[in-house]
Amino acid sequence: MVGREHELGLLLETIRSPALILVDGAAGVGKSALVRAMLADPALRGARRLTGQCHRLREPFPLGPVIEALCGVGAQPPGCHLSPLVGALQPVLPELAELLPPQPAPLDDPRAQRHRIFRALRELLAALGPVICVLEDLHWADESTLEFLAFLVCDPPAELSLVGTYRGADLPPTSSLPALCAGVPAHVRHATVHVPALSVDEVGRLSCALLQTSAVTAELAQHLHNQTAGIPFVLEEVVRLRRDQLARVDGWRTADELDDRGVPPAVRQSLRERMACLGSDACLVSRAAAVLAAPAAEELVGGDLAPRPPAHPPADGPADAAAAHSTPARRRRTRHRPPEGQSQLFEDGPR
Ligand SMILES: Nc1ncnc2c1ncn2[C@@H]1O[C@H](COP(=O)(O)OP(=O)(O)OP(=O)(O)O)[C@@H](O)[C@H]1O
Ligand SMILES: [Mg+2]
Repeated sequence: MVGREHELGLLLETIRSPALILVDGAAGVGKSALVRAMLADPALRGARRLTGQCHRLREPFPLGPVIEALCGVGAQPPGCHLSPLVGALQPVLPELAELLPPQPAPLDDPRAQRHRIFRALRELLAALGPVICVLEDLHWADESTLEFLAFLVCDPPAELSLVGTYRGADLPPTSSLPALCAGVPAHVRHATVHVPALSVDEVGRLSCALLQTSAVTAELAQHLHNQTAGIPFVLEEVVRLRRDQLARVDGWRTADELDDRGVPPAVRQSLRERMACLGSDACLVSRAAAVLAAPAAEELVGGDLAPRPPAHPPADGPADAAAAHSTPARRRRTRHRPPEGQSQLFEDGPR
């Protein structure tokens, strides 16, 4: 893994149980890779690992990632006795039917039933001994999962380390996730670790690894950094798309001869998915901002570029249409310069 020494150090420092660690960062920046690097550390060898994934669903399943994390537990059952309470998990964890006590009669009050499930989950987690439970992509978590996590971190099992990853920018505005650390008792170690984009130097090193070469020039590293904003996922895709072209660059010395091959399909798809979650105004502003040659102030993008669709869009495509329509005439000539493929992101993107 390139870089991340500081972030990895923070994770390893905090992970001694009981612990709560949140890993925040942009899409594809390397949150999961960082957590994997942490799990590979020899110091954590003795702990059981559980992983649950949140999925991008219109109506996510209640407790989905928690259930997913626990359903493999049967392969290495807990050594200690489980109380009758844990039998309440029979309906949600049929994979563990042999292991769980019989199901108690359900309670009439759904809130009481939910509380019972929460307590049963906590008891099961406690019975597992040393465990690192990783819940991925919590920006897509259902409400029950977030409520369960808030319940759990108030009084976590002594040998549990809980690690959650999320894209801060994609969190619903009302999400309780960022406040989770505020609810932990003093004896619980906790940290929110932000994963930043890679620096130019790190982009150069990752490019070397991806291109299986010993060095790339500072110029090429800078070029790839400009293209990818230092996001490893984007860099991997750009190198995949341009590998043969990059291989022709003499000794990795110059970026001059690289022509623009546009946006890699996986990056385009990822952007489409994220754009699909935006409202129509936000979509229009994003398209307009994508063709600005340089970062622009919020007033310009959100104010001056009044996001109203043109009655007759020019034939060049929606991005150009948005920019042409929304950029004040006096600014059009200087601002409307699509840098290295950016306008192509939206040429056939969501409308
Ligand atoms: N520091 C790094 N060094 C080398 N490769 C990396 C690094 N960080 C991430 N990668 C690679 O970049 C890709 C994207 O990383 P990863 O899946 O960890 O991102 P993520 O932040 O978890 O994305 P998402 O928000 O989609 O879950 C992976 O192939 C990963 O191996
Ligand atoms: Mg991830």
